[in-house]
Amino acid sequence: MKAVLASNNKKKMVEMRAILGELGVEVLSQADVGVSIEPEENGTTFEENSRIKAVAIMEATGLPAIADDSGLVVEALDGAPGVYSARYGGEGLDDTGRWQLLLKNMEGKENRACKFVSVICCAFPDGTQLMARGEVHGVVAQGPSGEGGFGYDPIFWLPEQGKSMAELTAEEKNQISHRGNALRVFKKELEKKLNGTDQ
Ligand code: IMP
Repeated sequence: MKAVLASNNKKKMVEMRAILGELGVEVLSQADVGVSIEPEENGTTFEENSRIKAVAIMEATGLPAIADDSGLVVEALDGAPGVYSARYGGEGLDDTGRWQLLLKNMEGKENRACKFVSVICCAFPDGTQLMARGEVHGVVAQGPSGEGGFGYDPIFWLPEQGKSMAELTAEEKNQISHRGNALRVFKKELEKKLNGTDQ
């Protein structure tokens, strides 16, 4: 099976190819199929946004399309930044600016519990969809540490590991991350569908 990844993120492509390649799925980029559209993510849940992206690319290409929507959910901030994680604080901020703003908004908060969420959706040309959700729980650190990963990783503290997400190697992160967990669930669901055992 060939599937298009509804994203221009090279890191997501590497992770998807590694895991889905084991199922014999050839993951193509939007560039590979000459489709450069970026659908507007105007949903209010990770599920809605991943579906919007996957369906738009499936319709544009006629091929199964896979999308991932992810973000950081902070309890004390009523779930913010959530689906707005990539846009937290507005267009002018970069990754560092966004986690700095988050730390500022957490000043004086006792409850620092948070989680990363990833929802993967595959939209098929026959109109069916497969969805998988993965999460990883942690706490908002008091300050940044580590050089790895991206986004909010430097301030995502993993109490069990005694490290921030940015202090893990790529392999270690993939073992425990929301995206790794979602991909593993997705892989099982896709395996069932491809083997015709999802009834
Ligand atoms: P998306 O590309 O629309 O799914 O945006 C996800 C946003 O959530 C990213 O821009 C990051 O800010 C944040 N995010 C998602 N996954 C991670 C992660 O693994 N580490 C750190 N930040 C993440």
